Amino acid sequence: MKKRILALLLASAMVLSLAACGGSKTDDKTDGTPAATEEAGSKEAGDTALADKKVGVCIYQFADNFMTLFRTELENYLVAQGFSKENIKIMDGANDQATQSGQIDAFIAEGVDVLIINPVNSSSAATITDKVVAAGIPLVYINREPAAEEEQRWADNNWNVCYVGCDARQSGTYQGEIIADMGLEKIDLNGNGKVDYIMIEGDPENVDAQYRTEFSIKALKDAGLEVNCLDDQVGMWDQVKGQELVGNALSQHGNEIEVVFCNNDAMALGALQAIQTAGRTVGKDIFLVGVDALTEVVEDVIEGTVSGTVFNDHFSQAHGAADAAIKYVKGETNEHYIGCDYVKVTSENAQEILDMIK
Ligand code: BGC
Repeated sequence: MKKRILALLLASAMVLSLAACGGSKTDDKTDGTPAATEEAGSKEAGDTALADKKVGVCIYQFADNFMTLFRTELENYLVAQGFSKENIKIMDGANDQATQSGQIDAFIAEGVDVLIINPVNSSSAATITDKVVAAGIPLVYINREPAAEEEQRWADNNWNVCYVGCDARQSGTYQGEIIADMGLEKIDLNGNGKVDYIMIEGDPENVDAQYRTEFSIKALKDAGLEVNCLDDQVGMWDQVKGQELVGNALSQHGNEIEVVFCNNDAMALGALQAIQTAGRTVGKDIFLVGVDALTEVVEDVIEGTVSGTVFNDHFSQAHGAADAAIKYVKGETNEHYIGCDYVKVTSENAQEILDMIK
């Protein structure tokens, strides 16, 4: 309740836009009408027609900070909408497509009413779609967007298949803008007239990694800045790998590194550890940006130990995926692509974001 009141009190335009795209916790419905109060109990507010429906959820890997936030919100929201907790099964793909494919087969054999899938390999989407559609089960993809040709097949065949997610190009652009807005004078510590950076990329199986890498740098160039890439490594969205890679880059390039771009916050947390170990200070002699707005990172933005991040709205995405699943279960259709917006997080709005997500 406290969080809902707090959220209501946040009056900035940014927060209004968040609310518009559904960026709030389970205790606020996406359509803006207040959901069940805690006193009334969320179950009573849910749709009784959903109580006996079965939802199968496949997550690419439980050991992923962001996907943990996502699946927790997804489950809570599904229950708040009327599904029984025991009818929602969430499986850990353990970052292995064969494991996940077995879980999908088991859900099909069980006859679930709808599937929500965060694929391990986006490239396996066509195979997944074919077997789920053949079984007559509607399908909502999340987080790892299948290729455009795959999405086109859903539309061409009028299948009950959709994708719910944010456009990662926007998150990359926001990362670049956070750095560009600081001005070259502040960033260009070695005075060579360029932004000397390193890039720590996520798992290439998620198009988010590719887009964030590309669009963060594009935003710098669009702002008229010259760039120099000192290192570009794949950290698989992982904090430990992020720390290791940034540690190596700092030993190799030392003070030449002015900006560290990380495709997500988990890796930015690792980068921060490496930066501190190397005796460097974010905001003073190096700059660091991530994506997701994990609580710890937003706190770091407030303290100034991370230059900025981008809120990857897991509330909107979880609610959007659940709402799409509900429509399918009720025999309704969905658009094949359901999008949402990222939000830039800097020291200016970090406290508001923190109050909302915490
Ligand atoms: C998030 C990452 C996460 C990845 C999982 C991305 O959208 O930003 O933090 O690890 O999805 O696929």
